[in-house]
Amino acid sequence: MAHAPLLGERLTAVLEGKEGKAAARALEILLALARVFGARAFAPVSSAQVSGVSFRSLSEAGLEYLESLAADARVAVPALLNPAGMDLRAWRAMGVGEAFADMQRRVIDAYVRMGVEPACTCTPYLAGHVPREGELLAWGESSAVTYVNSVLGARSNREGGPAALAAALIGETPVYGLHLDENRRPAVSVRLDDTAGTPARLGALGIVLGKRAAGRIPLIDSREEPSAEGLKALAAALPTYSGVSLFHWKHVTPEWARDAAPADEIVVTSGDIDEAIRGFRDEAQEPDLVFLGCPHLSLVELEAIAGGLAGRRVRTPLWLLVSRRVAGEAERLGLLAPIAEAGGEVYCDTCPVVAPPMARFARVMTDSAKGCWYMRGVHGSRVRLGTLEACLEAATL
Ligand code: F3S
Repeated sequence: MAHAPLLGERLTAVLEGKEGKAAARALEILLALARVFGARAFAPVSSAQVSGVSFRSLSEAGLEYLESLAADARVAVPALLNPAGMDLRAWRAMGVGEAFADMQRRVIDAYVRMGVEPACTCTPYLAGHVPREGELLAWGESSAVTYVNSVLGARSNREGGPAALAAALIGETPVYGLHLDENRRPAVSVRLDDTAGTPARLGALGIVLGKRAAGRIPLIDSREEPSAEGLKALAAALPTYSGVSLFHWKHVTPEWARDAAPADEIVVTSGDIDEAIRGFRDEAQEPDLVFLGCPHLSLVELEAIAGGLAGRRVRTPLWLLVSRRVAGEAERLGLLAPIAEAGGEVYCDTCPVVAPPMARFARVMTDSAKGCWYMRGVHGSRVRLGTLEACLEAATL
């Protein structure tokens, strides 16, 4: 039987309503989570990332709940939002209707009243929120959680929207799962016999591990060091295909050498990666949308896209998804003008899965293994996975 976690003086007072009704409701949510996962204690979090932002996933009931909470709820620690259902400024260009936009703005306003930063990104770590090793977090988006666990050595479970918001309001979380050393140990060694390569190839590694590592935390060893963009792609694909929100990569993950390497080893070859990429080739015809930025693009990727589009003209819609912060930096560096001149469309604050206009595209191409999974599953699109260069080629044919 699960034990109730010990509440200190402050949380006992919160539960009694001494910090307001919203805080008491939030703590009840966290206590329910603690009971489910057998947490015995609470500990402070340094930040929260709140998902459940798109009006598409919230619906009117969710919006009403948020607006009622916003009457007296205020965050106790820095908190930011996951992507919304539209670019909060350029929504008309995306094809979002007036009614949806109104509702989406009300959702954002409710969160802002609670003190949540409307960063609307799945790459907070590229947008000024860089957690340090060992910090406890309550983040919600699976790729961001996996990136901070695996690359930065911070500690977060994949919190659902209500739990992440509750942790933001209380400033603490029940301690369980990936917060604890014993649940962060690798369980299978993976020898990657491939060039560490591109985000598309490391996303495909996530697909392969989903099939062959059977939900175990991998310790990956490769001939080449992965790029930050490749790690971002793997962090998106691994939880999508295997449900695991942590990988160890030798000499990259801060805690990679803390535990002995698992004796059970699998070898992943270039052929395995090629086969996984071929598995995402539903469509012989040309795509009707090419999108890049799942997870949101880095400056390095935007620079590669600007360079790759030089002297070319976009003929198939090319959507580039990025956080507003990185877009601002790219603008200052002069990277957005050549993209716009070539016909590329840059959208901030949003995500292909939760943006309603994406449903109108039947055939999409992307360099994101995670994006392929969700476009197929959520929008019923036919998908093609390719490298960033292949995506630019397809968009400019
Ligand atoms: Fe980000 Fe959406 Fe992809 S949240 S990782 S752009 S599915």
